[in-house]
Amino acid sequence: MKFFLDTANIEEIKTAKKWGLLSGLTTNPSIIAKTNTEFREIASELCELVNPFPVSLEVVARDTGGMVAQARILNQLADNVVIKLPTNPAGMAALTILKEEGIKTNLTLIFSASQAVLAASAGATYVSPFIGRLEDRGYDGLGMTRDLMSIFKNYNFDTEIIAASIRDPHQALDVCKAGAHIITMPFAVLEKMLLNTMTDTDLDRFLNDWEKVPGKENAFTERVG
Ligand code: G3P
Repeated sequence: MKFFLDTANIEEIKTAKKWGLLSGLTTNPSIIAKTNTEFREIASELCELVNPFPVSLEVVARDTGGMVAQARILNQLADNVVIKLPTNPAGMAALTILKEEGIKTNLTLIFSASQAVLAASAGATYVSPFIGRLEDRGYDGLGMTRDLMSIFKNYNFDTEIIAASIRDPHQALDVCKAGAHIITMPFAVLEKMLLNTMTDTDLDRFLNDWEKVPGKENAFTERVG
């Protein structure tokens, strides 16, 4: 299981790196807009900060030609750029062109197993099913993830599944149970997965008991000679 962050917040990324929990980064136009920063500036900063791990940057053209042109420009920003394309006819045509040029792609806005299978068959580097948005709308996003994993087991796709749009630790763990290759999530969800008040409480108990240990003050001093 690889953990990616779904953010453009520099401090969140630095914290996840410090925790050893950053194997990649995904963004989208909404995430970029929150930074209130010029796109090429924040995109370059993100790629440098996350290097050598992959950073997904999304094109904003609606037509294949525009997507391909934007992808080629983004791909020049850094070696770890992955191009996010919508999983629709224009995006699939762009995928086919970019694959021939060796440009890595992340087919996104996936809401069905069929979309993901088609994108994988066409050679996407990654596919991003939006679990949370399906569940938000009353669909079985987690069931779709399980179906996808069982389909992928039937074929030796090179494509990796990035389970995206994760709302909480429960969804994250359900996706882990389904066996998704990668999960990308907001920092808040990652933090909730780590933090636990019982850990804090029982650590306090341990350290209170430690105070009773004879010579505790010498327990960690360097021995001379
Ligand atoms: O990477 C896709 C992801 O950003 C969508 O997540 O939370 O906006 O549904 P969300």
